[in-house]
Amino acid sequence: MVNVLFVCLGNICRSPMAEGVFRQIVKDAGLEKQIHIDSAGTSSYHIGESAHRGTLQTLKKHQIPYDGRARQLAKEDFAKYDYILAMDRSNFSTIRARMPENSAAKVALLLDYAEGIAEKEVPDPYYDGRFEEVYQLVSNGARNLLAAIREEHGL
Ligand code: 4NP
Repeated sequence: MVNVLFVCLGNICRSPMAEGVFRQIVKDAGLEKQIHIDSAGTSSYHIGESAHRGTLQTLKKHQIPYDGRARQLAKEDFAKYDYILAMDRSNFSTIRARMPENSAAKVALLLDYAEGIAEKEVPDPYYDGRFEEVYQLVSNGARNLLAAIREEHGL
């Protein structure tokens, strides 16, 4: 089993979008039994809440189901997850700062995996409402992330 965790600040906008999109791509590839997927936030602001309306509407528009609830990144995640993908550099720094020394998790920016675009950070749609842009960016990252995981794990 390969374990993949997407992380943003609140776990209501960007990382749920990435989780939903990646799960759909993994399902379409017939790999849902081999790859476990979740998302979390570095902050405690929205623990227990459903995803933001903008994320849910955008996923729905693209026929992707999502019913996750926000949770905070936990110490156990560093032992369980093989890949921890941050939505922006601020989240990346927070994850690295909390990472125990013995963790073998691969921590990266999701958009490090993206191809054909210059962006490295998924912009926060919480204030500007650009959820479709978030969808397009995380879709690019997620597609290429799966290709990398398949290669690294022989899937
Ligand atoms: P997310 O967006 O990190 O993509 O889930 C945000 C959600 C909530 C807040 C900021 C960003 N907030 O400040 O409450």
